[in-house]
Amino acid sequence: MKKFRLGLVGAGRMGQVHLRAVAESAHVEIVAVAEPSAAARAALSPSAFALHADATTMIDAGGLDGILLATPSHTHLATVAAVAARGLPILCEKPCGISAAQAAKAAAIAEKAKIHLQIGYWRRFVPELKALKDRIQAGLLGELYLVSCFQWDETPPATSFRAKGGGAFIDMGVHEFDQLRWLTGQELGNYCVAASKTAFADAVPEDPDAVQLLCDLSGGGNGLVSLGRRFPVGDACWVQVFGTQAFTESRFFWPPSGEAVFFAALRAQLEDFARAAQGGASQGATASDAIAALVAAEAATQALGGQGKSEV
Ligand SMILES: NC(=O)c1ccc[n+]([C@@H]2O[C@H](COP(=O)([O-])OP(=O)(O)OC[C@H]3O[C@@H](n4cnc5c(N)ncnc54)[C@H](O)[C@@H]3O)[C@@H](O)[C@H]2O)c1
Repeated sequence: MKKFRLGLVGAGRMGQVHLRAVAESAHVEIVAVAEPSAAARAALSPSAFALHADATTMIDAGGLDGILLATPSHTHLATVAAVAARGLPILCEKPCGISAAQAAKAAAIAEKAKIHLQIGYWRRFVPELKALKDRIQAGLLGELYLVSCFQWDETPPATSFRAKGGGAFIDMGVHEFDQLRWLTGQELGNYCVAASKTAFADAVPEDPDAVQLLCDLSGGGNGLVSLGRRFPVGDACWVQVFGTQAFTESRFFWPPSGEAVFFAALRAQLEDFARAAQGGASQGATASDAIAALVAAEAATQALGGQGKSEV
């Protein structure tokens, strides 16, 4: 069967991860890449795909079924608009802009253009988390007291990226806000936050190295989100659930197997997007989910006293 042909926009850190993840897919392939940086283009080995300097030139060259958008978050909205004007479905990396207002504009543009817009919250494609979600929503853990989501990276991204990423809650926290909503089927509110005051030489004032958040869940329990930029164990994400009937912990992304889990989830997400773009059902995050995650991230950023707040 013919593979779904994707054009990748942005071949930086995440774009290159997607290139590696899709390589083993039997259903989806990346046939073209748009990347404005000559140095980034030179670092690619483009035997399997065509290289372009920008998204519109790539799309106008034809032959694409959909777009995978992996440009910096502050460029998501403009790129969604440019792609939607050309009528292609979009899988946009999280968060879909750096504010809820930007995500809402992207959603409106996609709706008007009648294109499928999906957001890259890859946790929804991790089998261990899907099983946890099913257990929670079947009531097997009882009522929820506390759902804690931890995301600790081994090392921070480039200072230039951190300064424009919107801060820890908008760059990292959105994953946890989406995961809390998706796992529990509940909404979030009433945020209480704290940031660590530790300072490395390359620390970014807008993006503290470690931040913690407590919130209410609409079912009556609480959520906890813990984010860190420097974790000696390696890149790691884990969840703990305290219910009235049971406790469980899932170290679903943990060295040394975290990378394999991540790549498999990214591949499953791309294949889900391809099915959805062709009219099938999707298990992925919608533009509304992106807005909800950014609403929480903005409230958390505000509660932190504006640290990490970026222009809308
Ligand atoms: N899902 C995840 O776990 C995850 C992890 C890391 C990053 N991300 C997301 O991926 C996106 C990219 O992050 P990154 O770390 O790869 O950033 P990056 O800076 O490493 O790479 C971005 C690339 O996009 C290119 N670019 C910039 N503007 C462009 C445009 N208009 N058209 C085409 N290319 C353009 C840049 O030259 C660069 O090569 C961000 O939105 C980030 O939040 C997601």
